[in-house]
Amino acid sequence: MADPSRVVLEIRNLTLRFPTYGGAVHAVNGASIRVDAGERVGIVGESGSAKSVTSLMAMRLLPEGRFEVAGGSVALCGRDILAASEKEMVNIRGRDVAMIFQEPLTALNPTRRIGRQMLEVIRLHRGLSGRAARDLAIRLLGDMRIADPEQVFGRYPFELSGGMRQRVLIGLAFSCEPKLIVADEATTALDVTVQRQVLHLLRAKANSLGTAILFITHDLAVASQFCDRLYVMYAGAVVEEGPTAEVLGAPAHPYTQALLDALPERAAPGERLRSIAGSVPDLTAELSGCAFAPRCAQASAVCERRPALIPTGSDGHRAACWLAAKAVQ
Ligand SMILES: Nc1ncnc2c1ncn2[C@@H]1O[C@H](COP(=O)(O)OP(=O)(O)OP(=O)(O)O)[C@@H](O)[C@H]1O
Ligand SMILES: [Mg+2]
Repeated sequence: MADPSRVVLEIRNLTLRFPTYGGAVHAVNGASIRVDAGERVGIVGESGSAKSVTSLMAMRLLPEGRFEVAGGSVALCGRDILAASEKEMVNIRGRDVAMIFQEPLTALNPTRRIGRQMLEVIRLHRGLSGRAARDLAIRLLGDMRIADPEQVFGRYPFELSGGMRQRVLIGLAFSCEPKLIVADEATTALDVTVQRQVLHLLRAKANSLGTAILFITHDLAVASQFCDRLYVMYAGAVVEEGPTAEVLGAPAHPYTQALLDALPERAAPGERLRSIAGSVPDLTAELSGCAFAPRCAQASAVCERRPALIPTGSDGHRAACWLAAKAVQ
């Protein structure tokens, strides 16, 4: 059982849909995700598995009125995010939680210099202005190993490389010393070497402040290096969770196994890259049974009933699969 005082984010049994003209899209189907203080927690899964939608709800950043929460709860530092007013959310976003997105250009205003944008955020979230705000901005850039902060201050976003822009935004995300940073494919657009540097800086800064990170990626190799614990999502639900080494080293769910089998380094030389056969389920129909069963070579009649997450190993390693249930009997 987790120590409640150390829980930063607790998403419990979240069920969320998007009403559309073509019917409701059942995007999140009973997902539970917990992040403790200072932890790096990954969410992995194919495109459309609801990694982004679920993590955006940690900050309630989905457009109001466009979604319906059909069940479950979201608590950030003990606060009920689903019941908070928009005014409270603005405070919470600036103080307890910050977000880093995939494309830093969209998070920066292209027509304004980096320094002015940084000072604005620092004024808003830290109440600092003048010299104090500038000193903090320069320190944050220095922490992100930006060699000449003064010069970067005077530049426009397009004058910086992608890696540099992302470092500016990571520095800025830490400006309010949040308890949690949500990073959604934050390094996906960067080349491998830059990605490694940026992840190193992110980890170092988070460690020094005790900041937890919810790290969303479709890249299992990156997740394996960066995350302490993982949640594997499929069709809006968690199908496997546990310490990274356990989930990737001894996967208990056929979906996690299939994701690992599809990794390029598992392919024999000369063999074509494999992808998982079949496609993700149609989310306009409500899910019944195991959502992965139609693509699973080991599916049987029992999979018509939806399996719950059950322990398959030590340290909170759990999988939602009838096979895993048999294995521990
Ligand atoms: N505003 C919306 N209206 C309708 N459906 C939506 C909306 N936003 C997301 N969805 C649907 O919700 C599901 C989950 O989307 P989400 O973006 O969370 O997936 P993801 O796991 O982040 O995928 P990716 O790896 O491509 O980023 C998808 O089927 C998507 O089409
Ligand atoms: Mg996404």
